[in-house]
Amino acid sequence: MQEKLNEILNRAKESLEKATSIQETEDIRIQMLGKKGELTSILKSMKDLSPEEKKALGMGVNKAKAEVEEMLQKKFEEVKTKARAVKLQAEKIDVTEPGKEVELGSKHPLTVTIEEITKVFKNMGFSVVEGPEIETVFHNFDALNAGPNHPARDMTDTFYVNEDILLRTQTSPVQVRTLLKEEPPIRVISPGRVFRCDTPDATHSPVFHQIEGLVVDEGITMADLKGVLDSFAKQLFGENTRTKFRPHHFPFTEPSAEMDVSCFKCGGKGCRVCKGSGWIEILGCGMVHPNVLKVGDIDTEKYTGFAFGLGAERVAMLKYEIDDIRLNYENDMRYIKQFK
Ligand code: DAH
Repeated sequence: MQEKLNEILNRAKESLEKATSIQETEDIRIQMLGKKGELTSILKSMKDLSPEEKKALGMGVNKAKAEVEEMLQKKFEEVKTKARAVKLQAEKIDVTEPGKEVELGSKHPLTVTIEEITKVFKNMGFSVVEGPEIETVFHNFDALNAGPNHPARDMTDTFYVNEDILLRTQTSPVQVRTLLKEEPPIRVISPGRVFRCDTPDATHSPVFHQIEGLVVDEGITMADLKGVLDSFAKQLFGENTRTKFRPHHFPFTEPSAEMDVSCFKCGGKGCRVCKGSGWIEILGCGMVHPNVLKVGDIDTEKYTGFAFGLGAERVAMLKYEIDDIRLNYENDMRYIKQFK
């Protein structure tokens, strides 16, 4: 029996020497000391022995068990330390290594332009409001006094979702939403995306950006419109900028006008930017039509207002001398990076 015990002990020693992982060590523990382990089974075979033999064998087994346990404990310590070292090595971070360079982004020219325009109007006391891009025909056309046969309603100009819903063709419906929600005095601007069924080319895009403006208060006249928009032009294009208002037509304003600014490139002498005329058309504007004010239940005897709308792409392209509107939507970093 003692021989067998020695043999088991030697085998335990040998395999423990070879073990390199926690799992291998644990397997050996089970093989030796587990319920069906080798040392445990020896004890089970004692039942046919004499009391003396039992005693001697019991002591031998217990001694062997103690030895194996000690060897196991040492091995466990060893493989656990090793495992920890391997894990630490794998997770090691060299804090002295130089960091990855993060490229600083730049603002899109349209963002720059919209922010600049917004800032000018905010400084004049306007607040910024937003409206939905998916609009009702009511807000986009009906409430803006566009007659049932107005050409802009045509399927070839407007993206319809269904009979009553469309992608807004202008930011002007935000005027209607503001009038329905707020009481005068009103002073708001509303930048946003608009949509038209246009085939893209150098000057057309089916999606572009407008900035709408609306002022309603007691005693607002065309003089206020001209004063505010002239001041805006000087702040955006430079102090020496002159403005000129030409009569025009919009269904939601009466009278209506377009505002030109003296060319900020040549000062009015005539150049490539102003196509030789010295003037550049910048926006549409006018006194809010009473029919529009009435939609918001506003007393047209007491209140009057003016509105304006300008294209962000147009302003950006003029300012930065960009000759193709499509450049704005291609996300070409070589283009965008120029507007830091
Ligand atoms: N909504 C017009 C357009 O898309 C632009 C415009 C003109 C807006 C005159 C206005 C305005 O508020 O008064 O062509």
